[in-house]
Amino acid sequence: MLEIIIDTIENSPNQRITFADYMNLVLYHPEQGYYSSGKVNIGSEGDFFTASSLGSDFGELLAEQFKEMSEFLTYSDSFNLIEVGAGTGNLAADILTYLKEKHSNFYHQVHYIIIEESQALIKEQQNKLKDFDKITWKSWQDIPKNSITGCIFSNELIDAFPVHKVTKQNKQLKEIYVTWQDNQLKEIAEEISTPQLLDYFKLIDIDITKDNYPENYRTEVNLKALDWLKIVSEKLNIGYVLTIDYGYDASKYYHAQRYQGTLNCYYKHRHHHNPYVNLGEQDMTAHVDFTALEKQGNLLGLETVGLTQQGLFLMALGLGDRLAALSNGHYSLPQILQRRDALHQLINPTGLGGFKVLIQSKKIDNNQSLKGLKENLM
Ligand SMILES: C[S@@+](CC[C@H](N)C(=O)[O-])C[C@H]1O[C@@H](n2cnc3c(N)ncnc32)[C@H](O)[C@@H]1O
Repeated sequence: MLEIIIDTIENSPNQRITFADYMNLVLYHPEQGYYSSGKVNIGSEGDFFTASSLGSDFGELLAEQFKEMSEFLTYSDSFNLIEVGAGTGNLAADILTYLKEKHSNFYHQVHYIIIEESQALIKEQQNKLKDFDKITWKSWQDIPKNSITGCIFSNELIDAFPVHKVTKQNKQLKEIYVTWQDNQLKEIAEEISTPQLLDYFKLIDIDITKDNYPENYRTEVNLKALDWLKIVSEKLNIGYVLTIDYGYDASKYYHAQRYQGTLNCYYKHRHHHNPYVNLGEQDMTAHVDFTALEKQGNLLGLETVGLTQQGLFLMALGLGDRLAALSNGHYSLPQILQRRDALHQLINPTGLGGFKVLIQSKKIDNNQSLKGLKENLM
């Protein structure tokens, strides 16, 4: 991986690459990148775990929300569920198993499509999901514009997109590049690589060059999230976009006191802030700016239906009933303890429960509010 990085740097103008290009290499290089090489390890024993690693409750409660969405699209007899970035395939298995058992009419309406960047994970997903004949794997190019009626959803996808790193120097916006100097990867701050970075800050109405931001303030900008939303809005004909991820609104994300940004690295369940070690062997994420998703969505014809926290969202969809049912005498003590712990983790406000859930819609009458948004943050 290091050789690939050095080679890319040396063949680039000015012998430097943006941090976003660097992050793209270490996570998504077709042979050596963390997600592409098969080294990615999601689960309780892995580098990190996600909500679906904790059991089937997360997928089952999400399935309830999808079912309700389909009731607002009565004129269509099929419902596309597009999962983007499906990881191990656990979530797809949980959603489809539950729908088949509990809501078989809706199950028959569903066409489940997975869009996945990593060839290694596609193989893993196809293996895990081989018993479900209604799943197809596609790329965005295979899907015509305005062809999707249903819901495009993701869990912890956008925080895995490569981000640009920017900084404030001499009252100007500068970008962090990665270079190879003195046999080391080093960061340098130079002029920004694209005016899209300025457009981004205009979109969210934040100016980090203002006096209240300290000199050398650093943060990240996820331009890819905006490109992604553009594709999503073009492909969606009628329906919803449901995005779950860790993040904040712009005023919190770009708060003057958050002067080191939000970049995190995960290696064998340890969490640290050095992106220049364990190259191609560790995950790297940056929190998501939900204001940017909402504002970009508005420009693209996606209306915000609601923004809430995962804990509130799952409670509104019935997680509380599941906790209460643990004392109905059907479970053994070890089962009760294990499930109670998993359910609590899903709603813990300092952990997964503090994730945000954003639901946007296209061509839907939003007067019909959705069950999961009953406890809305807006
Ligand atoms: C942090 S993992 C989350 C996996 C899963 N959603 C979960 O909750 O366990 C990020 C996933 O997004 C995929 N991914 C990253 N960029 C992508 C892109 N541009 N398009 C599709 N999938 C992508 C990764 O390969 C991986 O499957």
